[in-house]
Amino acid sequence: MTPPKHFLELANISERELRTIITSGAAFKAGKGETNPLAGKTLAMIFEKPSTRTRVSFEVGMKQLGGEVVVLNQNDLQIGRGETIADTARVLSRYVDAIVLRTNHPDKLGELARNSTVPVINGLTDYSHPIQLLADILTYEEHVGSISQARVAWCGDGNNMALTWLQAAMVFGFELSIASPSELKLPDAEINRARGLGVKINVVEDPIEAVAGASCVVTDTWVSMGDKESERRHRLLGPYRVDEALMAHANRDAVFMHCLPAHRGEEVTSSVLDGPRSVVWDEAENRLHVQKGILMWCMSQ
Ligand code: CP
Ligand code: NVA
Repeated sequence: MTPPKHFLELANISERELRTIITSGAAFKAGKGETNPLAGKTLAMIFEKPSTRTRVSFEVGMKQLGGEVVVLNQNDLQIGRGETIADTARVLSRYVDAIVLRTNHPDKLGELARNSTVPVINGLTDYSHPIQLLADILTYEEHVGSISQARVAWCGDGNNMALTWLQAAMVFGFELSIASPSELKLPDAEINRARGLGVKINVVEDPIEAVAGASCVVTDTWVSMGDKESERRHRLLGPYRVDEALMAHANRDAVFMHCLPAHRGEEVTSSVLDGPRSVVWDEAENRLHVQKGILMWCMSQ
């Protein structure tokens, strides 16, 4: 039997295949996709954490492709009462054609994928959020140009989104500057791995240094799902808020990106989020289109 095409981490999928997915998503956006290509297929989605964009865009996208969706929260499943993820994978594989999991620990995603005979899609873990990054790349290329020529500046917490931008830099070869407080930076092992692969990466503490010359400025919440809300996080991350003064150090035509949900006045000011350089609403819309590309890629052999 052909092994399922899981969508787990950008770093484990070739640039050519990721390009196929983005191109397919862009074609659906342009109204050029097939009609009902996933008729008769069912997608299960398991959420151990809240979601607006991921849940709604997958559900709408799957239905637009002619398929069906089953949405399960953690407490709906016997996992909540101790059934293993491996056994859950074996059973769901007998009913559905693909599974999205949003969970805290990447090991749970790996366990699901190892024991599933249908494709498993990473719907976000504490480690990474790759479906978001493909939408981000489509958005950047619509507004600015080839991502491989980009200079991306990350300002803020060294969290799952920062790590996924690092993985994207490994695959697509753009320059990445990451400004984080030393207490909340990405692990050195991840940075060194990227450097070993030849990624042009600049790790700094000063957000102005990171943003200088950038064609894309990105940030994310200071308190991710699963993090403890703390005065310490707010104090450390306060200097990394993206405001108009910080954006003034980027290129004149630089775009501002954020995976959302945003915390206005914390990691980004409303004037930047709602301003002319913000592409966040297109970024959110592109989740729908790119995920159709992911569903097609996973479910076609
Ligand atoms: N950006 C993102 O994944 O949003 P949700 O948490 O609302 O799904
Ligand atoms: N870093 C955020 C991303 C939300 C889409 C979190 O994990 O909560």
